[in-house]
Amino acid sequence: MDAAYDEIADWYEEVFLAAGDPLGTRGLLRELLGEGRGTCLEIGCGTGVHAAVVRDLGWTPAGVDLSAGMLRHARDRLPAVRGDATRLPFRDAGLPAVIAMMAHTDMPDYPAVLREAARVLRPGGAFVHVGVHPCFCGGFADRGDPEAVVIRPGYLDRHWTKESWTDKGVRAKVGASHWPVPELLNAFVAAGLTLERFAESGGPVPVVLAVRARKES
Ligand SMILES: C[S@@+](CC[C@H](N)C(=O)[O-])C[C@H]1O[C@@H](n2cnc3c(N)ncnc32)[C@H](O)[C@@H]1O
Repeated sequence: MDAAYDEIADWYEEVFLAAGDPLGTRGLLRELLGEGRGTCLEIGCGTGVHAAVVRDLGWTPAGVDLSAGMLRHARDRLPAVRGDATRLPFRDAGLPAVIAMMAHTDMPDYPAVLREAARVLRPGGAFVHVGVHPCFCGGFADRGDPEAVVIRPGYLDRHWTKESWTDKGVRAKVGASHWPVPELLNAFVAAGLTLERFAESGGPVPVVLAVRARKES
């Protein structure tokens, strides 16, 4: 399995996450996942930084990630297995909740990941996606001047790129995929997930788009 994050796992844990949560992803997770009981599987769990919030909401966190390097840091945070989100090592319809946190741009076949999330969810189970905002972040977005975020042509192209306005982020190191909003949301619908609630965070122009969807009963 090709795991781009193996090479940057220590940087991700010790430098990138050390900045805290400037984008407010944990607040979005709290808001959209809400309190509940039973296993909440994070696909692309990385170093497991969201396990504490999941646990605090009453859920039992579990994770799956492609990168052994990232999972090494997750060891003390949640039970997690190495695996590919496009072929989840979980049975059909067994889980009450699945989340994907800041991971969809790292998964070139995200529509297949959404189908897998729907497959492992129980009918009525919740899927929470918290991801890079497709409109205001990407190779086409220059966020170098917070007073004037510049969106260049490129939004409409479904693409993968390492181009970024900063060399301090993830995109410049491992690259990122992009889907325009209709393609991204239509992939939820095609997977049999009913869109239920939306939220944004980050500023001065949103950096994160969050979606809660539910597996059809
Ligand atoms: C930006 S990190 C996010 C990690 C964590 N969710 C967080 O918010 O800190 C993206 C993660 O997705 C994982 N990933 C990428 N493709 C994957 C796949 N096909 N299956 C499972 N994990 C994958 C990477 O290894 C990486 O740990």
